[in-house]
Amino acid sequence: MSAVPTGRGAFLSDVETLRRRAREHIAQGAVTPGYHADRDLVVKLLNDALATEIICVLRYKRHFFMAQGIHAEGVAAEFKQHAAEEQQHADQIAERITQLGGAPDFSPQGLASRSHAEYVEGDSLEDMIKEDLVAERIAIDSYREMVEYLGMNDITTRRLMEEILAKEEEHADDLAKLLEDFAD
Ligand SMILES: [Fe+2]
Ligand SMILES: [Fe+2]
Repeated sequence: MSAVPTGRGAFLSDVETLRRRAREHIAQGAVTPGYHADRDLVVKLLNDALATEIICVLRYKRHFFMAQGIHAEGVAAEFKQHAAEEQQHADQIAERITQLGGAPDFSPQGLASRSHAEYVEGDSLEDMIKEDLVAERIAIDSYREMVEYLGMNDITTRRLMEEILAKEEEHADDLAKLLEDFAD
């Protein structure tokens, strides 16, 4: 008998079970038999989030180029940075979709309706910032719901969405501060 307790507890699988299960369905790559979430539903949720991120990239790009035209360099720089970060989110989400054996949906068809956030051009600089803030707040709520739904059933996707959620909260905060400048 070793000094290490042999009973791993009812909630942990023993080594033999872990090794045997890892060899089953190896073509499924990162998705093991221990994956407890509804994979099709998680892929669908991730594709909706992907559409949201792509719409946000497009909206921030539009705002960046329009703000440049009205000599608002500071705000334009913020839009540019947000566009780049939304693009990074889109890439991370697409990568996770493929890890789950799904296909990332980049089709322009229906993109705006798959997205939670809207593409609004905005007539003035203040309008643009407001629309971006609204979009961020929509993303924050929908990503928080995803995180809560995923819980312990798909920890990797949950962690990814938690990380993205934190960044969207940072974006919303940046925009709220920019809006304050207009109130002065
Ligand atoms: Fe994002
Ligand atoms: Fe954002």
